[in-house]
Amino acid sequence: MGYHRKVNLQQHGDNRGSLVAIETLKDIPFQVNRVYYLFNTLIDESRGFHAHKNLEQLLVCVSGTCDLKVENNEGETLYKLNSPIEGVYIKDLVWREMHNFSKDCVLLVLASNSYSEEDYIRDYDEFKRRCLNEKHTSS
Ligand code: TYD
Repeated sequence: MGYHRKVNLQQHGDNRGSLVAIETLKDIPFQVNRVYYLFNTLIDESRGFHAHKNLEQLLVCVSGTCDLKVENNEGETLYKLNSPIEGVYIKDLVWREMHNFSKDCVLLVLASNSYSEEDYIRDYDEFKRRCLNEKHTSS
């Protein structure tokens, strides 16, 4: 079942500045096996356009801003990512697109599994078919 939700991260701030820690099974419900980040994304360039069969991720815009559009079998949601203390947790069958990257945007992604092209669904029609299937099997 494709699932997503906003995650508020705890900020440990003092007069020196701010710090956010993300701990497995405390702040996020999965073991982190991969970390990557998108940066230097060209203005007007969009990324993503895929879903995963079996993957948990946390996306945090640690600098700058971007829009994250997600879709699961319940419809579409737009997350405005503009804070290093807010993330979006995404699990399994969720179509995601990232748009409107600011020049200084650094989008950090924590993932539960190693990179695997077999886990990707890059065809939107196939994603929609799988969503329908999920709906039928869960009702
Ligand atoms: P891609 O999946 O196209 O990025 P996005 O969906 O965010 O637009 O990935 C770009 C390239 O980086 C592609 O050649 C695959 C490679 N890549 C890795 O090697 N490891 C990774 O963990 C990811 C996410 C991508």
